[in-house]
Amino acid sequence: MMRGKLWISIWISFLLGSCMGKFMVEKNSLRVTSPKYLKDVYESAIGNFGIPQYGGTMLGVVVYPKANQKGCKSFEDFDLSFKSKPGSLPTFLLVDRGDCYFTTKAWNAQNAGAAAILVADDRVEPLITMDTPEEDSTSADYVQNITIPSALIKKDLGDSLKKAQEKGDMVNVYLDWRESLPHPDERVEYEFWTNSNDECGPKCDMQMEFVKNFKGVAQILEKKSYTQFTPHYITWYCPEAFILSKQCKSQCINHGRYCAPDPEQDFSTGYDGRDVVIQNLRQICLFKVANESGKPWLWWDYVTDFAIRCPMKEKKYTKECADKVIQSLGLDLKQIDKCIGDPEADQENPILKAEQDAQVGQGSRGDVTILPTLIVNDRQYRGKLDKTAVLKAICSGFEETTEPAVCLSEDIETNECLDNNGGCWQDKAANVTACKDTFRGRVCECPIVDGVKFSGDGYTHCAASGSGRCAINNGGCWKSTRDGTLYSACLIGEPEGCKCPEGFKGDGVNTCEDVDECREKLACQCKDCKCKNTYGSYECSCGGDLLYMKEHDTCISKKPMSQVGWGFLWVIFFGLAIAGVGAYAVYKYRLRSYMDSEIRAIMAQYMPLDNQGEVPTHNSHLDI
Ligand SMILES: *[C@@H]1O[C@H](CO)[C@@H](O)[C@H](O)[C@H]1NC(C)=O
Ligand SMILES: *[C@@H]1O[C@H](CO)[C@@H](O)[C@H](O)[C@H]1NC(C)=O
Ligand SMILES: *[C@@H]1O[C@H](CO)[C@@H](O)[C@H](O)[C@H]1NC(C)=O
Repeated sequence: MMRGKLWISIWISFLLGSCMGKFMVEKNSLRVTSPKYLKDVYESAIGNFGIPQYGGTMLGVVVYPKANQKGCKSFEDFDLSFKSKPGSLPTFLLVDRGDCYFTTKAWNAQNAGAAAILVADDRVEPLITMDTPEEDSTSADYVQNITIPSALIKKDLGDSLKKAQEKGDMVNVYLDWRESLPHPDERVEYEFWTNSNDECGPKCDMQMEFVKNFKGVAQILEKKSYTQFTPHYITWYCPEAFILSKQCKSQCINHGRYCAPDPEQDFSTGYDGRDVVIQNLRQICLFKVANESGKPWLWWDYVTDFAIRCPMKEKKYTKECADKVIQSLGLDLKQIDKCIGDPEADQENPILKAEQDAQVGQGSRGDVTILPTLIVNDRQYRGKLDKTAVLKAICSGFEETTEPAVCLSEDIETNECLDNNGGCWQDKAANVTACKDTFRGRVCECPIVDGVKFSGDGYTHCAASGSGRCAINNGGCWKSTRDGTLYSACLIGEPEGCKCPEGFKGDGVNTCEDVDECREKLACQCKDCKCKNTYGSYECSCGGDLLYMKEHDTCISKKPMSQVGWGFLWVIFFGLAIAGVGAYAVYKYRLRSYMDSEIRAIMAQYMPLDNQGEVPTHNSHLDI
């Protein structure tokens, strides 16, 4: 055991050595919008825990607590709460660096209701990345539960913000992660630096949990060519002087060239570091072969299946078990074995050599020294290794408007809709809202519900449109059910809108009132009629043995046939009469012409003519 500990300290000094090589601090910008004299954009460093809002922004009011200013104790002990009241801006708690872990401060701030934590540096220096404390299982639990974003700010900005608050100024700040990741094009390249070791405690469990949770999304993104994913594995080499030692032999392959720490940190039991290196190599080779066959996403299946089927605990962390998983995925075992090569050979393995070279930072990317590490578009991801948070980061790596649908889905909600419905339109009764969570923040957009499209501005107004609109909340129109009958103001077909049904009056949206046809004298006004109002209609009964005809609002005899017969006779009678009069008029005219031309001439020989008078004898003669 003594020798084991010594060995570990050698490893640690190695790690620290490479840490000093190149370490990049990932930043987001912090824009002070008030007070006026502090208005500017400042830099802040994203913490390596909590959930930074990659691609988004957050507006809040800065509060520096009256007590517990380092945030090392629970704020409850000081009766302090930073929960924002409805309608007010969320609180960004400002605390001082020092005395305890950054994660402790963030955890206390979160529990006191803060929406984000700003840690002011306590000395003048360049910004650093706030990290999680080294493994101890009691702390791991709460660290995993930190969800608020965190940022380290420089000492002078911290001092200015405190002073402004002291003066009673309102201090408003925007945290902005939109430029934290480059987003140059329509494809995001990302790397995950991981390990096949499953016995390293909470960190390994958390890694595997992430891979399992993220697998589905990762595979969608990869299959649709939105992303290019590459898994990576860290190895170290054994110092020259120790190559022939028992330790190096148990931890390294290829003659001390590629090593990994012992899984249990105990050389005498269980699996050795070299078993881990070989499994790591198998996973890289699997990716290579899968990638060459055009299915790089099979890596996600292999890694999760291997963790489930071949755990160290059950002594199945072996080649035999791995081969079974590979075969079940339909990949060529021979090609993978060929890629792994001979671990005993005193020569380079080109695959692992490339991995070691990639560990060294290039361009905007720092060295990879910690496991797990996620790199998105060549920038180290900061924050919790959580499906939603990582997806947000990847999504923010796309050029705006080229994000795949998965980036705009519910998977990565910002939860801004929970607060006052994000200021968007909603119909609480119908459970329909225009607020849509996206990783860039909420948008107000009229929704499509059950295939029915809503249209409107999304803020104050959305209405269902198209066929089927009446099926959803009755198209926003009034409706009522009485005695099993539905009365609806929703108009089916064109034009769309609400109109009270017949027998009702009102706006059709909020109200439709029954019209009292009797009182308003709209129907059933005949003498001896009895009018009775009903819901949506009325009843009318006629006196005597007459029958009421609603269509014509009139009473008729109960013997409709005779009524019609008499009517016909009258029509004939009048018709004949009119025809007779007409014929008489024509005859009379013709008689006059005749008399003019001839008879009058003859008669003129016997009697003097009277132009105005008529001749009675001729008249009677010409009667029908
Ligand atoms: C962290 O969250 C888990 C799951 O939600 C819960 O079981 C656990 O108690 C939490 N830990 C702390 C310290 O709140
Ligand atoms: C995977 O395949 C693609 C295209 O075939 C290639 O561009 C990429 O470099 C490959 N990745 C690795 C790690 O071999
Ligand atoms: C409203 O709809 C959402 C999803 O459409 C559902 O999860 C929720 O339970 C619904 N709420 C009510 C009160 O019906």
